[in-house]
Amino acid sequence: MESSEPGSSPWSPALAEAPATERRASTPRERRSYTRAEIEQGVRERGDWFQNLDLYGVRTAPAHFLGDFPTTKWKRFADVIPQDLTGKSVLDIGCNAGFYSFEMKKRGASRVVGIDFSDHYLDQARFAAEVQGFADIEFRRLTVYDVGALRERFDLVLFMGLVYHLRHPLLALDLIHEHVAKDLLVFQSLQRGSPEIEPLQDDYDFWETEVFHRPGYPKLHFVEKKYSHDETNWWVPNAACSAAMLRSAGFRVIAHPEEEVFLCKRVEVPPGPDGPRAVYPSRADKESR
Ligand SMILES: C[S@@+](CC[C@H](N)C(=O)[O-])C[C@H]1O[C@@H](n2cnc3c(N)ncnc32)[C@H](O)[C@@H]1O
Repeated sequence: MESSEPGSSPWSPALAEAPATERRASTPRERRSYTRAEIEQGVRERGDWFQNLDLYGVRTAPAHFLGDFPTTKWKRFADVIPQDLTGKSVLDIGCNAGFYSFEMKKRGASRVVGIDFSDHYLDQARFAAEVQGFADIEFRRLTVYDVGALRERFDLVLFMGLVYHLRHPLLALDLIHEHVAKDLLVFQSLQRGSPEIEPLQDDYDFWETEVFHRPGYPKLHFVEKKYSHDETNWWVPNAACSAAMLRSAGFRVIAHPEEEVFLCKRVEVPPGPDGPRAVYPSRADKESR
């Protein structure tokens, strides 16, 4: 299992500073006041929510099948993310209703951009931002495959809960590396199989077949039809596979605070035999909304 390296805490000594919850109160926010009834109506009008946000006591998805999601998830890895993001830029890929974008803003991030390809979720995110007074978060409709169109690198990139919904997971990671990641990446994936991550050799002999049966060897399970009633669940890695894909795309794992979450540092990757790894055109010419 990969572990955090001593002295490699991102942007230390910020981690030792006051907890974000203390700073939160002093974060200036301008917001038009919403009555509880207005918030309730706004939530209701925006249909089904995936993220259970707490909008001044109004819950957006109180019956989520994973419980109070993503708050319970966030609590399990919040400590490895720098507490103070002052002066930092953040890109939240697959932002959904903006839960993580809001948490990053609460930690003082200067610039937060959330992208998602669903107008439905972006509408929820914009509403939730307005209610909470996060007017300067930019929510844009963009697929992860077109991150090149942003023409910008971000200090912290969140790539959470999306990789297994993609038909081309490594392409997405390569594109993130090539176009938008500057320093840190937070990655989370649905995982199945063993949580073990065993050290790998650089090469194995053709007659070595046993290694493929070992639980800690990287495995990516292909879902042809549906998993969990969801036809967009295409690939389900085990933990070793998540770590291996990240390394292969140029992300060094510096913390693994819970089974599905990996905090990584962007590192350079040498071009492969066919040139740079991200083969899909960057679509830098394509405008996003
Ligand atoms: C399971 S949700 C995860 C939401 C959030 N990141 C989290 O961890 O709670 C997946 C999100 O990714 C979005 N999404 C799916 N495919 C995408 C793509 N190709 N590009 C951008 N967003 C995508 C979906 O609309 C959805 O909001």
